[in-house]
Amino acid sequence: MDKLAIIGGRPLYGEVAISGAKNSALKVMAAALLTDEKLTLTNVPQLADVDMLARLLAQHGALIDFNDGTLTLHAKDIVSTEAPYDLVRKMRASFNVLGPLLAREGKAKVSLPGGCAIGARPVDLHLKALAAMGAEIELDEGYVIAEAPDGLKGADITLPFVSVGATEHTMLSAVLAKGVTVIENAAREPEIADLAKCLAAMGAKIEGAGRSTIRIEGVDRLHGAEHRVLPDRIETGAYAMAVGATGGELTLTGTDGQLLGAALAVLEEAGLKIDETDKGLRVRKSEERCKAVDIVTQPYPGFPTDLQALFMALMATAEGATSVKETIFENRFMHAPELSRMGAKISVDGQNATVRGVARLKGAPVMATDLRASMSLVIAGLAAEGQTMVNRVYHLDRGFERLEEKLQNCGALIERVKD
Ligand code: UD1
Repeated sequence: MDKLAIIGGRPLYGEVAISGAKNSALKVMAAALLTDEKLTLTNVPQLADVDMLARLLAQHGALIDFNDGTLTLHAKDIVSTEAPYDLVRKMRASFNVLGPLLAREGKAKVSLPGGCAIGARPVDLHLKALAAMGAEIELDEGYVIAEAPDGLKGADITLPFVSVGATEHTMLSAVLAKGVTVIENAAREPEIADLAKCLAAMGAKIEGAGRSTIRIEGVDRLHGAEHRVLPDRIETGAYAMAVGATGGELTLTGTDGQLLGAALAVLEEAGLKIDETDKGLRVRKSEERCKAVDIVTQPYPGFPTDLQALFMALMATAEGATSVKETIFENRFMHAPELSRMGAKISVDGQNATVRGVARLKGAPVMATDLRASMSLVIAGLAAEGQTMVNRVYHLDRGFERLEEKLQNCGALIERVKD
């Protein structure tokens, strides 16, 4: 398994092109199953998760071409309505093929998903929404077997708590349903509005995406379209925090500060200067050391759970004590012991953590069990004295496009070590 060797302590200077959002690309890709015409997606990041979903869609019958960020998907005929365990278990977003297959073919058999090891992550809300839309659902040996021989029907769906995946899955299922679907307490993440934009370009009728109530009027058929995936807000936050950890100045091109939601103000309060420019965002540090800022993870526009681990790495060398409360996932502090190996002072109590800033971290061999936690170790490594070896790079390959190349171009000493 590949590793990343990082020699810390070098400020970052230069430009980083922010990639298209992984979490949006994976959902708009699933939309390709809803039409027999071609869907062209641009600004698609070259990531292991994108490849994995492309393999699954190919297995359902989509013809796929991926070249230089442009992904075309043409599901003229659906040749299989079964999504096997091997292709779904590694990535939770694969589960989103269930609704589109059901909407188009009236049946589907999809393995229950896997993904990052950050808690139980059930799919009960997805299944309840599909059941409300008339699907008959059975669970059998790790598979969801669903049927809707007369098609899905519009329904009023109130999510008991905000779920990005359930909101998107319901949207993907409702666009071809008979009648009107209303989703209450919908997630408001920018990726939801991006999915709605793509579906609308395909002929869907959606109102309110990006707000708490989404109204979808089902249509008989969708057609081909072209859609540009929005910039990755988590990657944007990651490079901004890298500047916070190391100093220097980066221009993050092709992105937008508003996508960061509450994280923008938090980073500014912590001591980053973030300015919008024609190209994107210019990020630098106003003080030698960042200041501690307390955070609570919340659905968008709150502080994103996907930046929580990275922010803890930044706060590990901040002045003062930071309190971090994780409210989205129950088991998302696995990076804490690894950061502690580098000299961070972190105590964890259930869903709360306290980070007491130290002057300097020290490089160490570390590893993480999920994607975002791995990135927090990279940020810590960039800030630390000496060498950090980040193991299990395959997590990073799932979600951060050309990570070491982008960092090297800005002066970081980071190298992939092949095993
Ligand atoms: C998506 C993102 C992930 C991000 C998360 C929260 C993708 C591919 N992944 O994940 O990076 O961290 O949003 O912003 O877009 N839940 C249930 N039952 C369900 C569905 C969810 O209990 O049926 C729970 C989850 O376990 C979690 C919470 O709801 O505790 C929120 O999860 P959700 O918003 O659905 O996250 P994902 O869509 O899986």
